Amino acid sequence: MTDNLMSKYPRIQDLEPVASKKIPPFIHAYLEAGTGSGNTMARNRRALDEITFTPELMHGRFEPDLQTNLLGQEYAMPFGVAPIGLSSLIWPSSEQNLAAMAARLNIPYTLSTVAGASIEDIGKQSNGLGWFQLYPPHNREIMNSLLNRAENAGMRVLVVTGDVPSPSRREDMRKAGAPIGSRNSTKITSKIFFQILRHPGWALASLKLKGKLRFKNMEPYAPKNSSKPISTFIGEQLNGSLTWDYLSEIRSCWKGKILLKGVLRASDAIKAVEVGVDGIVVSNHGGRQFDGNPASISVLPSVRQAVGAKFPLVFDSGIRSGLDILRALALGANFVLVGRPFLYGIAAIGAEGGDHVAKILKEEISNALVQIGAKNIPELRQRLNL
Ligand SMILES: Cc1cc2nc3c(=O)[nH]c(=O)nc-3n(C[C@H](O)[C@H](O)[C@H](O)COP(=O)(O)O)c2cc1C
Repeated sequence: MTDNLMSKYPRIQDLEPVASKKIPPFIHAYLEAGTGSGNTMARNRRALDEITFTPELMHGRFEPDLQTNLLGQEYAMPFGVAPIGLSSLIWPSSEQNLAAMAARLNIPYTLSTVAGASIEDIGKQSNGLGWFQLYPPHNREIMNSLLNRAENAGMRVLVVTGDVPSPSRREDMRKAGAPIGSRNSTKITSKIFFQILRHPGWALASLKLKGKLRFKNMEPYAPKNSSKPISTFIGEQLNGSLTWDYLSEIRSCWKGKILLKGVLRASDAIKAVEVGVDGIVVSNHGGRQFDGNPASISVLPSVRQAVGAKFPLVFDSGIRSGLDILRALALGANFVLVGRPFLYGIAAIGAEGGDHVAKILKEEISNALVQIGAKNIPELRQRLNL
């Protein structure tokens, strides 16, 4: 079965078109869209493609060792699953499937604050390897409660997202009929209804959700008997709440490791180090927030320079292959997060889609290291064309 999958879908780019056929257009737009004209997304791709290595010959046969230590934890490979809000809307149970896959393979899975599945459920699936992504709520009691739940569920790392000062416009989602910005954002319009009818596989799988959007992490805090939809309450709590002072508060509440996600400026990276975070995720949110952002990969070297050689740096935005992962590692990242590709895998193949994506990435990393003639990351960096 797995060999068969590798013949059908040997690359991430072979999964995306299949995924896009299986899910309704308004859901596909949610997964795929950038913002504005999609220029930041395109810039991420172009900038990664421009990074090359000149191979060194005569290294004989070797099997690259992909084991990577990040924040005191050994992972089997230098990548993990990025937080994707409402993954279970893209494909039902994808949060559980991806968390279980990650635990099996010994890589981290990051659960979003706005996931469909609960911290408690995913904590169990993650076997002590889970990360929890926090959009900090304005209300400190809710923040404290979320952190307690994450700690009790065994979440190892807190990923605080800093690059969502307000929702982005997501024009492609609006055009596809997603109920963004409408007064009742959980309403099923006739446009959505007909899209769902034309995607019976997704519709049947989604029957489990009983036609209702679930935000299991935030639901317990929503006012009871309110006429407002839950998404309005969540927006009021999470949008634009984070400041450096608030990050310091979170630092003093959370005993485990913290990553600040969404950093692009060297000066922000330096402030984050001063506040006491344990690492930084250099990211432009996969091009979903601001269409005038630089490609994340193009600012990675300046962030590395600002924080020094030893400080843990994670990278995401536009990673679509093992070669892309090596590009980020060569330019100064210690670890990489992969977002949309894991959902392409699940939507295209089903529950084992995440395993297949991880397998593609692993094979590509190993193969590229041998082609480059690099047995480790310092050697990889020597082969990079600057
Ligand atoms: C559908 C979707 C939902 C996302 N939801 C979140 C989220 O809840 N929290 C967060 O920090 N980042 C979120 N992100 C951003 C990802 O964590 C990550 O930064 C981005 O997807 C990386 O780019 P890539 O998809 O090109 O790999 C989301 C991305 C996508 C595609």
